[in-house]
Amino acid sequence: MSDRAVDLRSDTVTLPTPEMRRAMANAELGDDVFGEDPTVNRLEELAAERTGKEAAVLVTSGTQGNLVGVLSHTQRGDEVIVGDQAHIFHYEVAGCAVVGALQLRTVHNVDGMLDPAEVEAAIRPPNVHHPRTSLVCLENTHNRNGGAVLDSAQIHAVAAVAHRHGVSVHLDGARIFNAAVALGVEVHTLTAEVDSVTFCLSKGLAAPVGSVLCGRKDYIETARKYRKMLGGGMRQAGVIAAAGIVALNTMVDRLVEDHENARLLAEGLADLPGIVLDPKKVRTNIVIFDVTAPIGAAGLLMALKERGVLCTVAGPERIRMVTHYGIVREDIERAILAARDVLVGVAVSAR
Ligand SMILES: Cc1ncc(COP(=O)(O)O)c(C=O)c1O
Repeated sequence: MSDRAVDLRSDTVTLPTPEMRRAMANAELGDDVFGEDPTVNRLEELAAERTGKEAAVLVTSGTQGNLVGVLSHTQRGDEVIVGDQAHIFHYEVAGCAVVGALQLRTVHNVDGMLDPAEVEAAIRPPNVHHPRTSLVCLENTHNRNGGAVLDSAQIHAVAAVAHRHGVSVHLDGARIFNAAVALGVEVHTLTAEVDSVTFCLSKGLAAPVGSVLCGRKDYIETARKYRKMLGGGMRQAGVIAAAGIVALNTMVDRLVEDHENARLLAEGLADLPGIVLDPKKVRTNIVIFDVTAPIGAAGLLMALKERGVLCTVAGPERIRMVTHYGIVREDIERAILAARDVLVGVAVSAR
């Protein structure tokens, strides 16, 4: 058995593949702020093609992609509707409020979805007292909802309501390729009805840095100015883009392995005392479960760490584990054994 830690904290810990490293070393470069980096231009064309959009812009991260994406749809003082479990709402340092002077209005997230009727009720009618509702944000797959997947019918249901009211739709598609692989569809079928989408190269697709924002040509022109304002004009960014191209061309189909590993992990954990988890809900690479045992989430995290298994706490009684490139079947077995060792011990001492 290997001594290497089983790192299930996030798919962001993935390291670039040998092919990515070679592509980075050999990338043809130029000044991307002048639009002259041929490798960045190729990545942006590829990203636009995969998402079925007119244009794309490489950004530093998913957080920057979402912020640039939201700013490019809105004006100061507007209101943006997001899910109450959205990454944009919880984990992006209130960038929309700080940089965009935007008000976020939350509606319920259930299994990654927003209720179209609730979205419609939240869209403000014109009134001198109200902010203008200019944007609805979706997330697919949904991080805090355990990697939940939205299919094209669900996306249509929300987008149709928003568009009927003249409101745009941005998709935080940090893991949109996981969603597409889980559903067995092409990404563009999931992005057809949204006005913009951000996806990440640096999560399950294993590139070292970078995300891409895609949308209409004029929208992406606006986004380029916001990216520059936020310090995201990266000059010879082809070294990053080169890995991104390899990611898109070679790392999508293998996501199925991460999903299988996540399902195995969920099935193994669900049987353990003090864990509440429905493996049938695990459709992609994120496994979130509740710990009812007295040890609590922080205690379980520490005990697992001592046994060489790393995870994150998602609440006082909630743990998150994420499978990814670099995690193999044996690692899953090690993680389940470690959790069994801890939780069976806890159950026995509680008797
Ligand atoms: C759904 C979602 N959106 C956006 C992000 C932000 O990406 P980054 O860490 O590259 O800023 C993450 C990161 O985990 C995410 O899970």
